[in-house]
Amino acid sequence: MPAIEKVISATERERVVRLIDDHRKDWSLQQAFYLDPDIFELERQLWFPRQWVIVAHASELPEKGSYIIRNLFDEEIILARHGDGPDDIAAFYNVCTHRGSRLCTKDGRGRLMVCPYHAWAFRLTGELQTRRDLPEGVNPDELGLHKVPSKVIGGLVLCGLEPAHLPDIEPAAAGLTDLLLENGVGNARIIARKSYLTKANWKLVLENFLECYHCRPAHPEYFRVNGHVKVTAMRDEYKAKEWQEEIEAWHSVIGDAEFDKGVWEPGDLDTTPFAMHRKPIGSGRLTLSDDGQPVSCLMGGRTNYDGGENGFRIGRLSFLSAPNDYLTMFQMVPRSANETDVILTWLVDRDADANVDPEKISWMWDVTTVQDKKITEDNAEGVASRAYRPGPYTPLESQAAFFVETYLSQMRELITGDRASSKQEWGAPSQLFASPKATCNTRRL
Ligand code: FES
Ligand SMILES: [Fe+2]
Repeated sequence: MPAIEKVISATERERVVRLIDDHRKDWSLQQAFYLDPDIFELERQLWFPRQWVIVAHASELPEKGSYIIRNLFDEEIILARHGDGPDDIAAFYNVCTHRGSRLCTKDGRGRLMVCPYHAWAFRLTGELQTRRDLPEGVNPDELGLHKVPSKVIGGLVLCGLEPAHLPDIEPAAAGLTDLLLENGVGNARIIARKSYLTKANWKLVLENFLECYHCRPAHPEYFRVNGHVKVTAMRDEYKAKEWQEEIEAWHSVIGDAEFDKGVWEPGDLDTTPFAMHRKPIGSGRLTLSDDGQPVSCLMGGRTNYDGGENGFRIGRLSFLSAPNDYLTMFQMVPRSANETDVILTWLVDRDADANVDPEKISWMWDVTTVQDKKITEDNAEGVASRAYRPGPYTPLESQAAFFVETYLSQMRELITGDRASSKQEWGAPSQLFASPKATCNTRRL
């Protein structure tokens, strides 16, 4: 990571720190954080390099020798499967170590990756294979591809930019691998992928994703099929009691062992934002489909539909929803100060019938994300007005509030070396993570 003086002038540094210190706790951010290209550049230099994100599903590299090009923030990277093991995937910058050409221009398969410029060849483990043209005295071992930190967790391929500043991923890998495999993530194939380019700052997109306060006015379909909205989208004692009873009834059907997988969190979500929450879909629905009926075969070795959904946080910008028979993978990709790509990928069991209907499978999150794009873009329009002032988060938006506090505290630390403390737990539920803690057991590492 570059020295802070190279990233930001002293005056600019003072300005941003003042903006952070002026923040009113549990209120939305000041306008500059949602609009200012200089702050986006600061995030690009300081904050994004600390984040682990999903860059692919392992099935996108189906066999030894497969390699694909992906984007990691604004860097192009290559993912290469170099062995037969499920985790034998390496990541490199797509930069030739001869004179810097893009090495791969399209996805492919082979024993070597060959640069289109002067045909230097690299192994899938990154070493330079070409030897004969090297000038005397040049050590080919020093000309391997530049590695990108990567980790395969239960079928998800994660990458991050800055080895020295990325949080330790091993506790999350140890805690989540089995849970992901139990949900069939490692044995899945992609059935659909859509990108929803949203004209809004990535923090507006994320804040929206982290709360369900908007679900009643904005998402009629989502509101209809998800029982948790009784506590996540409204504050109604009677409905909350109903939901509590529904969770208890579900508990008695699935048994203690399954119910005890209710919540998994590593303890400090501030520095390691990985978690799983489990909840019933509700109203006797077997899966998240329009009519509640299955849309594909069971995943992960399950033998019956239990009507549950598992929601995974995979770092700050990636998520996964897992009802019994399909998966939805979410990637929030910041593009600029006012554009964010939201990429959704739907997966089913590798052996699912070839005739499964992608429309039925993608129905709920597609309709919901189209609506989210619209409301978030409207949010961004208003935030850009001279009349915008920060507003208060309600109790149903406490996860968005917590994200904002954490973000500011981390930015402050990155700019100045010290931070205002913001240690607290993810509190209220969101669209994806809706289990009220009081109703589920909690397991911690
Ligand atoms: S730049 Fe790749 S071989 Fe020359
Ligand atoms: Fe939404």
